[in-house]
Amino acid sequence: MKKTIRDFDLENKKVIIRCDFNVPLKDGKIADDTRIKRSLETIQYALEKKAKVILLSHLGRVKTEEDKEKNNLEVVADRLRELLPCPITFVPETRGEEVEKAIASMKPSEVVLLQNTRYEDLDGKKESGCDEELSRYWASLGDIFINDAFGTLHRAHASNAGISKYLESGIGFLVEKEVTALSHLFDPERPFIIILGGAKVADKIGLIKNLISKCDKMLIGGGMAFTFLKAEGYEVGNSLVDQDSISFCQELLKENEEKIVLPVDVWCNTEYADQEGTLKEITELDFEDMGLDIGEKTVSLFQNYLKDAKMVLWNGPLGVYEFSHYKKGTEEILTYLTEHKNSIKTVLGGGDIVAAANQVGVADQLYHVSTGGGATLEFLEGKEMPGLIHIKEG
Ligand code: 3PG
Repeated sequence: MKKTIRDFDLENKKVIIRCDFNVPLKDGKIADDTRIKRSLETIQYALEKKAKVILLSHLGRVKTEEDKEKNNLEVVADRLRELLPCPITFVPETRGEEVEKAIASMKPSEVVLLQNTRYEDLDGKKESGCDEELSRYWASLGDIFINDAFGTLHRAHASNAGISKYLESGIGFLVEKEVTALSHLFDPERPFIIILGGAKVADKIGLIKNLISKCDKMLIGGGMAFTFLKAEGYEVGNSLVDQDSISFCQELLKENEEKIVLPVDVWCNTEYADQEGTLKEITELDFEDMGLDIGEKTVSLFQNYLKDAKMVLWNGPLGVYEFSHYKKGTEEILTYLTEHKNSIKTVLGGGDIVAAANQVGVADQLYHVSTGGGATLEFLEGKEMPGLIHIKEG
């Protein structure tokens, strides 16, 4: 395991903590503060140890002056002030005199949050390009660097991978928890079942290739199920089909006939709209049908496999979750896993299924809910995480 925040003496030290405060915003307000709340454990620990805490994060992508306005990190400072009892100074700059002065006047157990690190992308992509001068500059602001931005581990940016090249570094509690829980899936308790949904097969090919041999069953729903059904020769009408992935699906089905479970019925509509649909057997779809959620028989079929599971990994909703008429399949399986949380360790990975779990109100009851989107997928694909490379083993 990598060095963690516990391995350092933090007292009176300037500790830079890279968080992933990349939260969804609606009308300029934070729509979901999960990532902020999940960062608190590390920040609070550093404050208790009397560190001077310097927080860095990106928010959105910054390509124009307008993007700067939209992605001002000050909203996060406001939320942190509600969640933490200590003084929090927000510096609306990413470098320069104002930053240096704010840090020089810090007392132990205080927080300074700098402006969105991606403001540095406007001038030659310095953050995203992991600019060396910028990495060294940010490293020069602190004594210790803690990377707790799990959601950004797949990026080699100046504020995560860059700083860790030039400063004594470790991981925070969130990264530690995520890495431990997700690594558990590489050597899972059996039966281990993977549930996959979401729109495109192409986005999941790396994960499927890496984990198909480790799981006992792979239950497939959501838009991506129709590419598999088409590959099996079914009429899928107007349902979403990822043409470029059909041959991948055919090959996978041939080699894993017993493992892959596809929907046997679906809720359909003739247009992509949040209106009452028709429940059809998978053999009954005609050319104008569009499958938008798994049907009742499929829910029972999936539950039947899940009842004996010890571990479950779930990525991607099983229907069009944003539509009230087509969220039932996802909700029923989420509820089932929550009711069986004592016997089934469920890991949810990827933004959409986590948002669904938050909406149902079960996210905090499951074994692990990942804060990553792309990072979780890449981790599960077995890829090396650039944000961890320069952090030494503890
Ligand atoms: C995420 O939301 O997945 C992370 O914060 C990374 O954001 P990015 O895809 O804009 O790099």
